[in-house]
Amino acid sequence: MVQLKRLDKPNLKIYNNKYCDIPLPALVLMPSQDSKPPAIADLRCDYRLKALLETEVNANPIQQFQLWFDQALQADLPEPNAMTLATVSADGRPSARIVLLKGVDPAGFVFYTNYQSRKGQELAATPWAALVFWWAELERQVRIEGRVSKVSDTETETYFDSRPRGSQLGAWASEQSQVICDRIVLEQRLQDLEQQYQDQSIPRPPHWGGYRLQPDLIEFWQGRPNRLHDRLCYQRQDQSWALQRLSP
Ligand SMILES: Cc1cc2nc3c(=O)[nH]c(=O)nc-3n(C[C@H](O)[C@H](O)[C@H](O)COP(=O)(O)O)c2cc1C
Repeated sequence: MVQLKRLDKPNLKIYNNKYCDIPLPALVLMPSQDSKPPAIADLRCDYRLKALLETEVNANPIQQFQLWFDQALQADLPEPNAMTLATVSADGRPSARIVLLKGVDPAGFVFYTNYQSRKGQELAATPWAALVFWWAELERQVRIEGRVSKVSDTETETYFDSRPRGSQLGAWASEQSQVICDRIVLEQRLQDLEQQYQDQSIPRPPHWGGYRLQPDLIEFWQGRPNRLHDRLCYQRQDQSWALQRLSP
């Protein structure tokens, strides 16, 4: 795992990262006084674990994503499938939150939620969204954009049936994004549902299911020294992908 070692210089810490494939250790500049918390403006890292070159990436960005995701798994990162999902309301107001990636294949990126939630309503009005992964220990970001559609009932049901019973009941108990007067309301609903479905399998709520974002843009970002990061951006062109390097 990542370890921070203090060097002689009081304001310099060495970021000793096992994922480093460049012989230089990544240097993290930290504020000098131990007693005082750092000012936000002084927090910064100099990224130098890895590089990202056109010659090394897969021509297909979904396969490239799968490669980076496997590396995030092997690196034991906490919740590597947590991603920021940004949606837009009918009148153009953006909102973002974390959801969990539950599948990726050539057709796109799948997540599950409540169709009546704020994000569900926004996706009904504007079926376009963006996803962002940030894998700090690997100094990597992935940005994905595309059109969103609901997954089939069969696909949702297969996933719903695989969830722990508590999560299945939670999907019934929570009117996601609605105001509730007290937490006790949720606890009471859960208790009632436990009784209602005692010794029975729990059906999928009709308002709960999956979405698939079909990407038309995927950007891979690798942190580099002096803020000269690597950014490789794929854009869909009919049946193929065009790859371009973007300025950091
Ligand atoms: C690590 C993490 C994982 C989450 N995973 C999901 C998820 O897979 N699906 C979901 O609906 N909400 C998930 N949430 C909760 C959302 O961030 C959010 O609070 C909720 O979906 C309501 O969002 P909305 O009101 O914008 O629709 C997760 C939150 C965190 C912090």
